[in-house]
Amino acid sequence: MSGYEARFKVWRGDAHGGGLEDFRVEVNEGEVVLDIIHRLQATQAPDLAVRWNCKAGKCGSCSAEINGRPRLMCMTRMSVFTREETVTVTPLRAFPVVRDLVTDVGFNYRKAREVPAFVPPAGVGPGEYRMMQEDVDRSQEFRKCIECFLCQDTCHVVRDHEENKAAFAGPRFLMRIAELDMHPLDAAAESGVDRKRTAQDEHGLGYCNITKCCTEVCPEGIKITDNALIPLKERAVDRKYDPLVWLGSKIRRRSSAG
Ligand code: SF4
Ligand code: SF4
Ligand code: FES
Repeated sequence: MSGYEARFKVWRGDAHGGGLEDFRVEVNEGEVVLDIIHRLQATQAPDLAVRWNCKAGKCGSCSAEINGRPRLMCMTRMSVFTREETVTVTPLRAFPVVRDLVTDVGFNYRKAREVPAFVPPAGVGPGEYRMMQEDVDRSQEFRKCIECFLCQDTCHVVRDHEENKAAFAGPRFLMRIAELDMHPLDAAAESGVDRKRTAQDEHGLGYCNITKCCTEVCPEGIKITDNALIPLKERAVDRKYDPLVWLGSKIRRRSSAG
């Protein structure tokens, strides 16, 4: 592919408002959308705000919406668009705009802090942890997360519903709860943290209606819905409706009260 001139529309503005600005910009073989944004900064819009870091799909900071779809700008090749197509780049819709393509993703850090960390098992020292390879593999998938928050941005529960944000952690953090809940060495339950109950009551697991939109946009290909959210829902429901679990919790509560 030889060089050509592409049509771009880029959202410019801040928390008070803004709109799409038109550009014509050079594109060369092998370039990605972030290259074009950098070329705009270098040639036509020196004050265009954009967040990025690695340009390798690993830092998770260049998230934006390209032609309406949440994507990493550094991993979106220009070759996926035709030369005639106008490429529209807008900030993540679910989060407040700071300026141009930069949004305030603080919502995600607040939600991260609300999930209690891994609780080490009593009597087992560092280096003595043993678990089945199968369990290691299971949570390894979730640990590929680069915290780009594209899944958080795309989830319809919060995308157009600011009012749901207080009650809903979003797919990334429900996945974190699932990861910890399926960790065979996590001793949260012994320390009084019921991860299944908190997923339901405090992190809004019930809001998720397994549409899989989060999975579709994940640049790491993590099967968020199938491997984290659905299994967590199944275990949370088991806990709620399983008569033995219910009876067990009653007896435990009584004996600890007595
Ligand atoms: S599967 Fe659940 S968390 Fe993922 S986008 Fe759909 S509603 Fe949101
Ligand atoms: S789960 Fe995927 S889409 Fe969501 S923050 Fe992590 S890497 Fe990004
Ligand atoms: S710049 Fe790091 S993921 Fe795009």
